[in-house]
Amino acid sequence: MRTDSPVTISRQDYRPYPFEIESVDLQFDLDPTRSLVHSRLALQRLTPDAELVLDGEELELVSVKVDGEVLAADRYTVDAQALRIKGLPEHCVLEITSACNPSTNSTLMGLYVSNGNFFTQCEAEGFRRITFFADRPDVMSRYTVTLRGNKAAYPVLLSNGNLLGERDLEDGRHEARWEDPFRKPCYLFALVAGKFAHVERTARTSSGRNILLQVYSDPGSEDKTLYALDSLERSMIWDETRYGLELDLDRFMIVATRDFNMGAMENKGLNIFNAAYVLADPDFATDANYSDIEAIVGHEYFHNWTGNRVTCRDWFQLSLKEGLTVFRDQEFSADMMAASLSAEEAASARAVKRIDDVVTLRAAQFPEDAGPMAHPIRPESYQEIGNFYTATVYEKGAEVIRMQQTLLGVDGFNAGLKEYFRRHDGQAVTCDDFVAAMESVYQARHPGKDLTVFRRWYRQAGTPRVTVTLRHDAAARTVTVELAQRSDKVGVERLPGEPDKQPLHIPFAIGLLDQTGRALPLRLAGSTDAADTVLLELTTERQQWVFEDIADAPVPSLLRDFSAPVIVEYDFSDAELALLLAHDTNAFTRWEAGQELASREILRLTADQAAGRPLSLSASFVNAWAAVLREPTLDAAYRERVLALPGEKTLAERMTEVDPVALAVARDFVRAELGRQLAADWQAAVDNNQTPGEYSPDPIPAGRRALKNFALATLQAGQVAGAEAQLEAQYAAAQNMTDRLGALAALVQFGEAAAADRALQDFYQRWEHEPLVIDKWFALQATGRRTDVAAVRKLADHPAFTLRNPNRARALIFQFCLNNPRGFHAAGGAGYRFWAEQVLALDALNPDVAARLARAMDRWVRFVPALRAPMRQALEQVRKHPGLSRAVTEIVSKALE
Ligand code: ARG
Ligand code: ZN
Repeated sequence: MRTDSPVTISRQDYRPYPFEIESVDLQFDLDPTRSLVHSRLALQRLTPDAELVLDGEELELVSVKVDGEVLAADRYTVDAQALRIKGLPEHCVLEITSACNPSTNSTLMGLYVSNGNFFTQCEAEGFRRITFFADRPDVMSRYTVTLRGNKAAYPVLLSNGNLLGERDLEDGRHEARWEDPFRKPCYLFALVAGKFAHVERTARTSSGRNILLQVYSDPGSEDKTLYALDSLERSMIWDETRYGLELDLDRFMIVATRDFNMGAMENKGLNIFNAAYVLADPDFATDANYSDIEAIVGHEYFHNWTGNRVTCRDWFQLSLKEGLTVFRDQEFSADMMAASLSAEEAASARAVKRIDDVVTLRAAQFPEDAGPMAHPIRPESYQEIGNFYTATVYEKGAEVIRMQQTLLGVDGFNAGLKEYFRRHDGQAVTCDDFVAAMESVYQARHPGKDLTVFRRWYRQAGTPRVTVTLRHDAAARTVTVELAQRSDKVGVERLPGEPDKQPLHIPFAIGLLDQTGRALPLRLAGSTDAADTVLLELTTERQQWVFEDIADAPVPSLLRDFSAPVIVEYDFSDAELALLLAHDTNAFTRWEAGQELASREILRLTADQAAGRPLSLSASFVNAWAAVLREPTLDAAYRERVLALPGEKTLAERMTEVDPVALAVARDFVRAELGRQLAADWQAAVDNNQTPGEYSPDPIPAGRRALKNFALATLQAGQVAGAEAQLEAQYAAAQNMTDRLGALAALVQFGEAAAADRALQDFYQRWEHEPLVIDKWFALQATGRRTDVAAVRKLADHPAFTLRNPNRARALIFQFCLNNPRGFHAAGGAGYRFWAEQVLALDALNPDVAARLARAMDRWVRFVPALRAPMRQALEQVRKHPGLSRAVTEIVSKALE
């Protein structure tokens, strides 16, 4: 391995590229061990005397020609990073031939071989591993691509855009020529070659063009790609209906690969997907898998406009495409969930989607924003851009887009998006350009307002806290609401060049309930209309609003629909929370009230557990949960979200010092007591939520399965008589993977060891030949409460385990280190030593994946002292390892700073 000396790249240092690359003609002679790449670039020099610097990594340079003449060796230099040529004329044609070795490329960046087929991954900086090029998103060119390879081994040859022609060559080879009609940056380049089956369908766009939609996968798996194909067609229709955005190609392809660093990639017209987000059938995919497929197919498809037609000027602008596209996929999923439901069911389905997105944000992004890797959604600097494909850029980025929709209204936001495309179609732009387009509509519709304060969301890291104070004046019949925001002392203060934290523009949706739980009509002083929910806009440190005509002191319902990514501080009494949980008309804050009650209960018990005091669940909490179980009006999916306990990562953020084992014990205790004390109610939930008949991943049956499986697992957690037998029966008779895996997970987590082992063995035998299911098998055990370091090491020795396949590594190693607090944080530090070993082993193969595992120790300073010391030791061991990649170096050094 090479040793990278970390270089910090700053947003402020952006300079335009001094050349224009008008066209790129690529010819590939595909060979697993030595692929030849011939690249012909039509160049225009924009700055006199500029040197041409083309990035290149792990490439063997074969030849360089300028305007047909071989370039003398003294006219250029080449090293491990770049090819440099001085003295080029203003216009010229540069031809470069180079070679690379896809078969030994375990990084899965650039051109690599998976399962005998060729794939590429170029975002962010993988194209430089394919050929020498200006590997940056603001250099946009037109591409033509010729692929040549052995026809028997690689019958399918795909690249971006439209197929120009195919023909057979000598020696059993053939070639295909592709042309992408749109200019694009090289990170959107892709090729695929090998043996594939595909399914396809012709869809018609709103303007009447026919589009060929195709999904490619391993031969034999094509019947498992139909849900992805359906999702693709739904995405296409949705983007037309919701935003008027039509597909600009005649052909749109998705290809599944088993080896992939991330979820999927939006290469123009040729999306490459992790097979986990393409393949599904009821037997082996869960409801969650189905909804992930829909969301990710949508996400990559939506990038065609938000990312491809308008792309990023530089990688600091990553959220320009990712935050916006996550927002779009969230909206797409919500609309799909709500489709064909009654108005009431649809509202509940949307609330469930919002809850799920906020749960993800709180579990992944809030800790990131408070830890050593904290960065604004538009980072100011990085050492390795691969480390900035983060929850902050993606999920918080989506929240920042959502707030703009909230401030502009849906119509205003849609008009702003239209203006963005009108201004920037075909360009590589910045987050500022996006906000400016939105602002033009905002100012036109709301005279006197602008987005000056709002823009700070793009440059400030950290989760703001909003403190709420409520004063009721009985004589005046008014309620004064004061909001005060704080962004200091959160996140880290060492972001280079970051100014002091300033107040943000925070849209804060609020409602008020009376003491019987009825929604109060809200009327702001000076206004005539009343509403159930009012959107307050906090733009300074502290502001007040007065609501009129309120007789008695109300209970506030705060941050409805999670209108901003902030932490709310308000001193609710438990009784007020119970009232909100029972009556709030906003489904999101109603759920939130329950989560707050549960958090308080679990945190209190965690302290008891840590201090060695006996644990006992409060009766009022049990009553609150009983009421939710018995409330007749809630649908299953929503009820399950309300009953589910807050996750450990979210809870940990509320502790001054984290004792992860005590926390896990307390949380499980609550689950077990709820199971034991409310056994009849859980059993009723099981009995009333069966889903006989044909499987469908739609939200109503999926919600029933979620509630039923949660109820069954809770009964088992409480060791209720008969629960284990029910789980074993469900496991054996299950008609779909959601039920089978649900039962198996509960057995592994809360069942007797022998019963769990029997089911695990059966599961393995049934699914030995489907890697995606074996991933689930590893993941279940990795997170099992009986799995300690010794057990996880044993699983790592299993013949089916390999670190080379990212899905497999994530299933076992990541799941253990990130989601098994008992095993990972067990006293003695064996979990941390295991982590260090695995980070180093992975780093030698795949730095991108290794760096993600490295982040498991991000929050080490927050743990109790007994854990901190061995955590630090493990981090230091990794940091001093010779030859550590730039990616892992950045993560561990920031953690240790
Ligand atoms: N643009 C892709 C997506 O979000 C992700 C690519 C990530 N690449 C990386 N090297 N981390 O749709
Ligand atoms: Zn994306």
